[in-house]
Amino acid sequence: MAKFDVAVIGAGAAGMMCAATAAQRGKRVVLIDHATKLAEKIRISGGGRCNFTNINAGPANFLSENPHFCKSALSRYTAADFVALVKRHRIGYHEKHRGQLFCDDSAEQIIDMLKDECAAGDVHWRMPCKVSSLAQADEGGFLLQTDTGDIEADSVVIATGGLSIAKIGATDFGYRIAEQFELRMVEPRPALVPLTFDPQQWAPFVEMSGIALEVDVETGSFKGRNPTGGRFREDLLFTHRGLSGPAILQISSYWTPGTPIVINLIPELDLAATLIEGKGTIKKQLGNVLSQWLPARLAEGLLLAHGFALDARLADLPDAQLRKLGAAINQWTITPNGSEGYKKAEVTRGGVDTRELSQQSMMANKVPGLYFIGEAVDVTGWLGGYNFQWAWASGVAAGQAV
Ligand code: FDA
Repeated sequence: MAKFDVAVIGAGAAGMMCAATAAQRGKRVVLIDHATKLAEKIRISGGGRCNFTNINAGPANFLSENPHFCKSALSRYTAADFVALVKRHRIGYHEKHRGQLFCDDSAEQIIDMLKDECAAGDVHWRMPCKVSSLAQADEGGFLLQTDTGDIEADSVVIATGGLSIAKIGATDFGYRIAEQFELRMVEPRPALVPLTFDPQQWAPFVEMSGIALEVDVETGSFKGRNPTGGRFREDLLFTHRGLSGPAILQISSYWTPGTPIVINLIPELDLAATLIEGKGTIKKQLGNVLSQWLPARLAEGLLLAHGFALDARLADLPDAQLRKLGAAINQWTITPNGSEGYKKAEVTRGGVDTRELSQQSMMANKVPGLYFIGEAVDVTGWLGGYNFQWAWASGVAAGQAV
């Protein structure tokens, strides 16, 4: 029987960070993963360049049933701390958009850095290795049965991530362990995911596939002490089945099935007021007028979808019609019929209920020695490096506590 102080299950972003932190404190750590290729999600992240953190990361950039939970870990291991690690490993990086930091060369450099950090603490690896059971041992600690031999460990850290992209190794292992130890869950849902629409409702927009533009998008409620709504200004992309692009990925995390999203396709402009004011001076056809602010193909499609003739002249249209058109474009309100699901989702929203965990250490309150970190926990970041920052911060929090 192999004996360790700590067994970390899942050698992704959070698991490697946690294993390295604990091992460099002198703990004997084993890091277990069932995959044959290490850290595939880091490898494919940020288009192969890994958006490894966001310099503006703070609690407001995360969704959780308990929005305060992430504060402690995020404040004790910040984006600046991770940047310092990246610099120490001489990895070149650059800021792309709104504080998002990417490797200059390759995401592989982040994987190598984490491997080196694990090696610095002499972490033991079991990979590929399948854990068939995890149980509390009579004499304290845990017993793990695996296909490469049994393991005894004083503490176990679950870092097996969420459900997105099963083909590169995502499983519900973390959720099953939570269930086994009777820990509550927040229902998992695909997040940071393209949204789809009923094919009949979407038919007028199929032609617009490929069009991208900056929009305001919002969903949910902003009222009360715990507002559930989200609001973003980002690029939107029309697809054959619905909508994608950063604006939609962001809002998808806030979207609840059955409810609408509201898109302002020309955020800088009060369209109805501008059109009504321009009636006396603008002689053009409506399609030409709109194409000042929207891609021509989109302007035409929107006019047709809302029952306007393309050759209608602005001057001939009653104000009420122009107000209707203004609302249709400044407040385009549509209800998705679903999302592209876990195959396309960058992350899983929900997971192990944070009320079951210590915000300092990530340990389950009622199972001493059992920890949950990273995406397995009900803390979900916005698009833009926030999810990795949560993986690093929660990994360090548990790594310092085990
Ligand atoms: P992660 O998924 O990284 O690791 C879990 C590990 O557990 C895996 O190695 C898996 O093989 C292993 N595992 C699962 N089940 C197991 C079992 N039963 N037994 C043993 N091992 C098991 N975020 C960001 O901040 N910036 C970005 O640029 C991107 N880009 C991006 C692109 C794409 C395409 C995706 C899908 C996701 C992103 N993300 C991202 C999100 C980010 O990748 C994600 O939030 C983190 O990897 C989560 O880290 P974890 O360590 O929690 O899980």
